Amino acid sequence: MRVLLTGGAGYIGSHTALVLLEHGHEVVVLDDFSNSSLEAVRRVEELSGKSVPVVEADLADRAASERALEDIEFDSVIHLAGLKSVGESVAQPTRYYRVNIDATLVLLDVLRERGITNFVFSSSATVYGVPQSVPIDEQHPVGDGITNPYGRSKFIIEEIIRDTQSAWPELGATLLRYFNPVGAHTSGRIGEDPSGIPNNLMPFIAQVAVGKRERLSVFGDTYATPDGTGVRDYIHVMDLAEGHVAALEHNRPGIAVYNLGSGTGSSVLEVVREFERASGQPVPFVIEAPRAGDVGEVVADPTLANTTLDWRTTRSLADACRDSWNWQSSNPEGYAG
Ligand code: WQD
Repeated sequence: MRVLLTGGAGYIGSHTALVLLEHGHEVVVLDDFSNSSLEAVRRVEELSGKSVPVVEADLADRAASERALEDIEFDSVIHLAGLKSVGESVAQPTRYYRVNIDATLVLLDVLRERGITNFVFSSSATVYGVPQSVPIDEQHPVGDGITNPYGRSKFIIEEIIRDTQSAWPELGATLLRYFNPVGAHTSGRIGEDPSGIPNNLMPFIAQVAVGKRERLSVFGDTYATPDGTGVRDYIHVMDLAEGHVAALEHNRPGIAVYNLGSGTGSSVLEVVREFERASGQPVPFVIEAPRAGDVGEVVADPTLANTTLDWRTTRSLADACRDSWNWQSSNPEGYAG
């Protein structure tokens, strides 16, 4: 297929682009480069040996996007473009709703005008809010107890996609609810390159290990978990990328929802220890107060994706720490280095 990959220069996007190309698909990247680098796309071309056309546009700007896509041919879409920092969304709610929702509204209109019915959307486990129980399957309620505008924007977009599919039965829309993406391609040529202070655990640990940050703040150690620190389902970004290809190739008219996770939980301290083993570097940390909006345990039940998509994670937390360290130590300043 010829896939329009929005947000294709980002962390998930660059890895998804590479796996799509390796599976024989063609990729066109649309990105506004507000939180990503064209260098990432160039390295995907280097790794794949294939060219990747790039369209620079702010998808939330309808006129600019329609102009930018005017001469671009594609037959399917994987929609990753959007703002994704939980903390930032609390401080800038209207920006998060406008960018994330407007971009999707523009894209859905473009799809309908062109009769493109294969649509995969990057959703998030945050739509489950505070889990009633773990592991979480796709039947778990969504929308209640979401603690931030980022997660709520993802939930609202899922509802917009459902309503659009009701009005356009030919549309095949797959909603992929990510758990915690980590790691990098084994080459160390592409990886996670957060701008500013990393919000997420793994990139922060990587920056401590490489000496860019002094120490890790562990947000709380009094949760009802084995060692008291937060437990999450860390999924290697290459497994996540492969999940997108499986969803794209399996898409059918209707709405499909899948949790993309490993089904295994790891605590903050377990990640720290694993990263020290992988890097051979110390990761000093200090226990601090819990972070507002955090919950103790979030782990996926990935059974539906395992069975329906014939997809499952094959890489471990140790693999992710090894690959994250390889990327970080080879690119201490990310793509700008
Ligand atoms: C993981 C664990 C923290 C940083 C986020 C967002 C969303 C989603 C996944 C896409 C928690 C602890 C973290 C630090 C810490 N992605 N932590 N010190 O909050 O589970 O989910 O990423 O939708 O972006 O929901 O991920 O990596 O921030 O936190 O102790 O400096 O690490 O308390 O237990 P989170 P995270």
